[in-house]
Amino acid sequence: MITNYQLEVSHLSLAVPLQGTMVEAVSDVSFRLQAGRVLGLVGESGCGKSLTAQALLRLGEHQGVQRLSGDIILDGSSLFTMSESELQQVRGGKIAMIFQEPMTALNPVFTIGTQIIEVMRLHRTLTAAEAKAKAIALLCDVGMQDAELLLRQYPDALSGGMRQRVLIAMAMATEPRYIIADEPTTALDVSVQKRIIALLRRLQSQHQQGMLLVTHDFGLVAEMCDDVAVMYAGQVVETGTVGDIFDNPRHPYTRALMHCRPEVASAGASLPVIAGQVPTPGAWPQGCHFADRCMLADHNCRLQAIDLNVWHGDRDHQARCLHGDRA
Ligand SMILES: Nc1ncnc2c1ncn2[C@@H]1O[C@H](COP(=O)(O)OP(=O)(O)O)[C@@H](O)[C@H]1O
Ligand SMILES: [Mg+2]
Repeated sequence: MITNYQLEVSHLSLAVPLQGTMVEAVSDVSFRLQAGRVLGLVGESGCGKSLTAQALLRLGEHQGVQRLSGDIILDGSSLFTMSESELQQVRGGKIAMIFQEPMTALNPVFTIGTQIIEVMRLHRTLTAAEAKAKAIALLCDVGMQDAELLLRQYPDALSGGMRQRVLIAMAMATEPRYIIADEPTTALDVSVQKRIIALLRRLQSQHQQGMLLVTHDFGLVAEMCDDVAVMYAGQVVETGTVGDIFDNPRHPYTRALMHCRPEVASAGASLPVIAGQVPTPGAWPQGCHFADRCMLADHNCRLQAIDLNVWHGDRDHQARCLHGDRA
């Protein structure tokens, strides 16, 4: 199998409209999705994770998001030089997206069958009978019973977990090489979350897809991911393998996030939170973006922008911290 294809985000900066001006909201973000690997993009709400994920399909531009600099390269071609029809082929073709909200991502006026078959026929030439057979196989594969009946049902007949399974089946329908999943289980009950995550992991590994998993949940990262990029206030502040990040975290923000995991907090104690808030775009401090919430921050941290590899880790484990050597 050829596995040297990849999806690469290179020094991407994005701006959003805020009170009549454009302000930087994603700053110099780089990462790579590789076949068969899952990259977790982690951080609190408001750090720029969804903006970054949506840029991989050039979504968000109709809501005023603009690229300031950088590029996204899919198998050798820039997404930013593609025509609208080429982008349509990429969306739901080579790259599929699974959204957070399974309640709103399905159209209530069409049956499940109509929606899943339409996606397939947009991207592949299939007869109606082939498409139906394939749809049934996909629904069985995501653990749905009585797929034949399900094809005739409308979304509002299904629970949140079942809808998310249907959306996963739809995402898999075109055999994409890359899956972008933005908080795919956040809207679901905890018991359902685990099963959906196990399903995603199984399918991704079976099809050797490259996956970006956006989440604020470090527990999920441990279960799902091979690599991690921690995002804070528009920047990647630490990146490495799951082993690097869990066993040897270098950025104080990474450590703080890990201490917020429910399974780390002692039983009965309330969940620790990181004091303060993520600064909004336009209000980032000039030095380290995390300085105002960081116990290690000193004068030097506030002077000027800090490079991602200022802590001399290895090429694959980098941190944007002047105190990365302090354990
Ligand atoms: N279309 C938009 N217009 C204006 N501001 C936006 C837009 N999209 C996102 N933002 C702002 O950019 C920041 C990052 O948003 P987002 O990527 O959704 O964060 P996350 O997914 O990490 O929670 C937030 O402060 C958000 O309010
Ligand atoms: Mg988000």
